[in-house]
Amino acid sequence: MELLKNKIEQEGIVLSNTVLKVDSFLNHQIDPNLMSEIGKEFAKRFANKGITKVLTIESSGIAPSVFAGLELGVPVVFARKRKSLTLINDLLTSSVHSFTKGETNEISVSNKYINENDVVLIIDDFLANGQAALGLVDIVEQANAKVAGIGIVIEKGFQDGGKQLREKGYVIESLAIISSLENGKVSFEAGNKGEGVN
Ligand code: G4P
Repeated sequence: MELLKNKIEQEGIVLSNTVLKVDSFLNHQIDPNLMSEIGKEFAKRFANKGITKVLTIESSGIAPSVFAGLELGVPVVFARKRKSLTLINDLLTSSVHSFTKGETNEISVSNKYINENDVVLIIDDFLANGQAALGLVDIVEQANAKVAGIGIVIEKGFQDGGKQLREKGYVIESLAIISSLENGKVSFEAGNKGEGVN
């Protein structure tokens, strides 16, 4: 998605060979115009799949998911990383280990909001090692619902998550795939210039 790639080139800060900071439009301050376009792009890529719900994980997955849900005309559910005061019964849970942060979070979703009739589009801001996406897939499958696909705003193609999930047969649509962050420079994967190509 050209608009997103231009934004990454203009505002992304390469912190190391593996980490890209995008605090100015996605992870801290949010650019609503860009999120709206991202929502439209996900809706286009997952049109006619019978999606009934969008599922994401707090916090940075919520903004792009809400715009995708708006375009698809379906509710958006976010998995919680911390125990909620009011969300205590009938939880679907999964363990998500972050290699980057060296910590494991128990994520949870009420079984009231995902059930066996749902066709779920999973959305997240980053795909790195794929642990968050795998945790969300696990929750959908525990609910006996169907995974329609996985929409990612920024995939780091040099990390393993995308490969693992594609090998398991999940359809992944990433709006920008980064091939390298070496020498302080963002490089995108060739063949991911055009729309609809992941
Ligand atoms: P994984 O889920 O793909 O295995 O990712 P990993 O454990 O490596 O990442 C943990 C957190 O760091 C996730 O956000 C993920 O989105 C984010 N992340 C991974 N790589 C990058 C990167 O290069 N740049 C940025 N900006 N974020 C990255 P989180 O901790 O859940 O944060 P939030 O959603 O609450 O903002």
